[in-house]
Amino acid sequence: MKKTLIAMLLGLGTLNLQATLTEDVEVPYVPFEIKMGKHFDVVQANCLTCHSFGYILNQGKQPRSFWKEKVEKMVNAFKAPISKEDQALITDYLAEQYGNGQ
Ligand code: HEC
Repeated sequence: MKKTLIAMLLGLGTLNLQATLTEDVEVPYVPFEIKMGKHFDVVQANCLTCHSFGYILNQGKQPRSFWKEKVEKMVNAFKAPISKEDQALITDYLAEQYGNGQ
């Protein structure tokens, strides 16, 4: 009985804390627009394991060479385990969706 009471009190404590947090903290909503293009599934499977899509979107429109280098950087510097074929597909996707035509 005592244990149940303590558990209940603890439970209430947590609920109260949550209520205060929702009142005081405003989480900014950042609408990242992810483009669903050809090979998006490959990007989703390989590029979102370490960070969000924001890293990609924040770069703005860039030439294909820029995207190729970024994909290679992820593999060489950060050891992302991405096969050569997938790297090529991802570069295609990025150049197509977030490219500047160069
Ligand atoms: C193994 C983990 C990992 C994977 C997988 C990964 N990244 Fe990254 N990425 C990082 C790290 C670490 C950073 C640098 C974060 C920082 O500097 O704050 C980064 C940063 C970036 C940036 C920001 C620019 C820069 O040069 O730092 C871009 C763009 C990016 N990643 C794109 C990609 C793309 C595209 C893929 C898929 C091919 C990918 N990432 C997969 C770890 C990863």
